[in-house]
Amino acid sequence: MHRILLLGASGQLGTDLRRVLPAPALVPLTRGELDVTDPDAVARALEAHRPAWVVNTAAFHRVDDIERDEASARMAFAVNAEAVGALARACERRRTRLLSLSTDYVFGGGPPGPYAEEAPPFPVNTYGRSKLEGERLVRAAGPDHVVVRSSGLYGVAGSSGKGGNFVETMLRLARAGRDITVVDDQILGPTYTADLAAAIARLVAADPPGGIYHLTNAGACSWFEFSHRIFALAGLKPKLEPTTSTAYRAPARRPAHSVLANTRAAALGLPPLRPWPEALEAYLRAKGHIAA
Ligand SMILES: NC(=O)c1ccc[n+]([C@@H]2O[C@H](COP(=O)([O-])OP(=O)(O)OC[C@H]3O[C@@H](n4cnc5c(N)ncnc54)[C@H](OP(=O)(O)O)[C@@H]3O)[C@@H](O)[C@H]2O)c1
Repeated sequence: MHRILLLGASGQLGTDLRRVLPAPALVPLTRGELDVTDPDAVARALEAHRPAWVVNTAAFHRVDDIERDEASARMAFAVNAEAVGALARACERRRTRLLSLSTDYVFGGGPPGPYAEEAPPFPVNTYGRSKLEGERLVRAAGPDHVVVRSSGLYGVAGSSGKGGNFVETMLRLARAGRDITVVDDQILGPTYTADLAAAIARLVAADPPGGIYHLTNAGACSWFEFSHRIFALAGLKPKLEPTTSTAYRAPARRPAHSVLANTRAAALGLPPLRPWPEALEAYLRAKGHIAA
């Protein structure tokens, strides 16, 4: 069986990938075990494990910090672009295939989505620009490498980089009796990392052609609609009001409509990810927020 090196293995997507990538062949490495910004450590890991694939989930993605703070912006380009480019070149030298994660935030400045893989990217914030540069460097390193874009991730492990995930934040605020205001002018395809991990495992097993693949749960909603469904499923009734991005005044601009059409995976014959409301319900059950 071909060996797979998994980087960023303790993140929310990394944790779910550990469950679905084939066990004897999987080498999961956390940031403590391998910092992707250290090219010597990356070279040593490739030499030691000689994987057929590297799956890279590592990222620096505190979107607002990256926008307002120079040191965070430098960190974003170091982790999301330079390190990913160096990793891709190191993989290419060893004829190892790389699958690296990217984001719907490479879109947003042009016409609204849904976006197919070949749609011209146009990021509206610094995080999106750092991920797009990472994509460019991966593709420049070799035609067999794969970029998987996804969006609005939530998983049982929660994101350490972001301090949890959107679903848990909503539930915490509601249980604290807080009034909740959520934007209804940003439309996306929120995605459960358990489903994304399973789709990535199928993609790797299919030995796909190189290039970009979009993998998200089916359908689309605004963050407000997503919150509304979270509370309906969890049986909570907080005071929930829609707002606009302009009124919300986050430091970083977000795409108004960043839904990703999963066209290349479908063309390979891979099954679509289930609709986002079903995925959300499965997540709430897995976390014990609703009865199993
Ligand atoms: N979260 C979203 O909504 C979203 C949406 C679209 C795309 N994505 C992309 O999907 C991927 C996975 O996201 P996620 O939500 O699973 O993120 P996550 O939970 O924050 O996991 C990212 C992991 O990367 C690790 N990491 C950070 N810097 C590193 C470094 N220099 N070397 C090695 N590991 C490092 C982190 O380790 P520590 O825990 O030790 O910091 C963490 O385990 C990322 O590429 C992200 O850009 C995310």
